[in-house]
Amino acid sequence: MAEVKRPTEVDLAKIDSLIAEYSKQRWGLIPLLQEIQELVGYIPSEVIPRIAKGLNLFPSQVQGVITFYAQLYTSPRGKNVVRVCRGTACHVRGGKTILKLVKQHLGIEEGETTPDLNYTLETVACIGVCALAPNIVINRDTHGHMNPKKLTRLFSSKDEA
Ligand code: FES
Repeated sequence: MAEVKRPTEVDLAKIDSLIAEYSKQRWGLIPLLQEIQELVGYIPSEVIPRIAKGLNLFPSQVQGVITFYAQLYTSPRGKNVVRVCRGTACHVRGGKTILKLVKQHLGIEEGETTPDLNYTLETVACIGVCALAPNIVINRDTHGHMNPKKLTRLFSSKDEA
């Protein structure tokens, strides 16, 4: 499991000034959360009570909004996000083996980030290119007709980059 990068004193001071800025806005919570995520790379759990206090909300309300929006994260993300398709077409064409190999290669489970913050691993229901199954997506690039050999080549080129 990756060691979580905590916000620095500088980050916390900046976060406090953002909270003060957004506390005057009626619908400030989501843009505030987005700005904090941009600043730190994720929304650290320790800032949730500060946000709640500043915006006159309960911490559970702030947490609820973070949980609701898939693009808000409470843990750091890797430089590269690997998504393995778990849809039916990919599953029947070996997607399960591909996921197992990706996990082995990266040494992490779904939803985790490598300790060097290079990779985050996620699964998706279907990425819409079933004809190329099994598929994985690395950042914005889709890699179809995946097989163990192709996967090894793909990761060795990424690891060298
Ligand atoms: S099931 Fe994998 S792309 Fe559709």
